[in-house]
Amino acid sequence: MSVSVGLPAHTEFGIVGGGIIGLSVAYELTRRGRRVVVLDDGSRAGVATHAAAGMIAPAAESEMEHSELVELRRLSHALYPEFVQHVEADSGVDCAFRTDGTLVVALDRDHAVEIERLREIVTDQGFETHALSAREVLEIEPNVSGRVVQGLRLPQDFHVDQRSLVRALRVALARTGALLTSDVVVERVERNGTITGSRRDAPTPERFEIHCDQVVVSAGSWTPVELELPFAPLPVRPVRGQVVRLHAAAALRHVVRTPDVYLVPHAAGELIVGASVEEQGFDARPTAGAVLDLLRHAWRALPVLYDAPLTEIAVGFRPTARDHLPIFGRWSSRIAVATGHFRNGILLAPGTARLLAQLLCDGVEHQLLRVFAPQRFSERGAGGARDPRGESCIEST
Ligand code: GLY
Repeated sequence: MSVSVGLPAHTEFGIVGGGIIGLSVAYELTRRGRRVVVLDDGSRAGVATHAAAGMIAPAAESEMEHSELVELRRLSHALYPEFVQHVEADSGVDCAFRTDGTLVVALDRDHAVEIERLREIVTDQGFETHALSAREVLEIEPNVSGRVVQGLRLPQDFHVDQRSLVRALRVALARTGALLTSDVVVERVERNGTITGSRRDAPTPERFEIHCDQVVVSAGSWTPVELELPFAPLPVRPVRGQVVRLHAAAALRHVVRTPDVYLVPHAAGELIVGASVEEQGFDARPTAGAVLDLLRHAWRALPVLYDAPLTEIAVGFRPTARDHLPIFGRWSSRIAVATGHFRNGILLAPGTARLLAQLLCDGVEHQLLRVFAPQRFSERGAGGARDPRGESCIEST
C-alpha cells in the first residue's frame, strides 16, 4: 500500500499531503473515476489528524459564528454518515463512527453561564439542545463528578476514531487504484503542475518528477513552509494542540465536555482528553504544564480517571489561517489548495473534499469557495497580482 518508487510520470491529480483533508479529497476524486497520486512524507511529528480526538461536533464546537463557516460545518456534518459508510465499505475497516451526541456539563456557576451561552448559539444555528438537571446528567453518565450542577445534551454531534478513518481511507484509496506514498519529500510544485521531490531515507538520492493535470496542496501547517510554490506563502501557522490518551474509555458512554476540557471515549479502549491551544511554532515536544492542566480539568469532571493508565501524549499542529477560517479552492488553473482547517479538520473533511472535487472535476463553483479562497489574502493587499488568464492568485516575488 505504501510506495514511493515506481511513481508515474503523469497523473490526473497529485495530492500533496496525506492528512485527513488530502486523503478525503483524494477519495472523492477516485470515487469520480479520477487517477490520483497522494504524496506524503509519513515521518513528520505533529500531524494534526493523528493528534485529533475525532469529534464531528458542529454543535459543541459552534463558538465561532462566522456564517459561512457555520454553513460549511453543516454541509460536512450532513455528509459524514454516507462518507464513512462508503469508506468502510470500500476498505473493510471499521471507523467506530458514533452518532450519540455530546454531553456538555457544568461543574460550577461559571460553567453554567458558559453553557447557557453555548445553548443560545447552538439554538441560533438550528441544532437541537436538551437542558439537563444534575440528576439527569448522572443518570446518563454515572461517572461524571457529583459536583455537576447542570448539563446540555447536543444530540446531533458525531464522533469517529480518526486514526481508523485514516487507515480506512488509505486502504480504500489503494483498492480503487490510487497510488499512495508515505516516504517522499515534495520540494517544489510548479505552475504547470509538475511536482518534484525526493525519496526520504533512500540509500542513494532518489528523485522524482510527476506531471499532474491538477495539483492539490493539502500539506496542513507545512503548506507555507518547506515547499516551494509559485505563490507567496499563505498566512498559515501551526497552533499546537496536546491531548492525553488514557486507557479509560469504559468510564464514559458519550463525548463529555466542560468549558475547560473534552473527553472522547474511543471504541478501541482509549479516552482522549483535550486539548491545549498553544502558539509554540513547530515544537512537537509535549509539555508538563499542558498535561497537568488537561488532567486536572479531566479529573475534576471524571474523578475515576485518577487510576487510569496513561497510554500516550499526542501533539498536533493545527493549520491555522490569519483569519482562523479554512483556505480552499483554486490557486491557479492547475493548482488548488486545502488547508487552514484549524480546530475543525476532522469535521470539515468531507465537505471540503466534496466542494473541491465538484470544482476541479465539474467546474461547479459553490458560493462557499469564494469565501474560503486563497485569493482573499492577496485581495486584502498582501502583495497579490492578477493571473494573466484572469484568475486572481498570489504571485511569488
Ligand atoms: N477540535 C478539537 C481540537 O481542536 O482540540
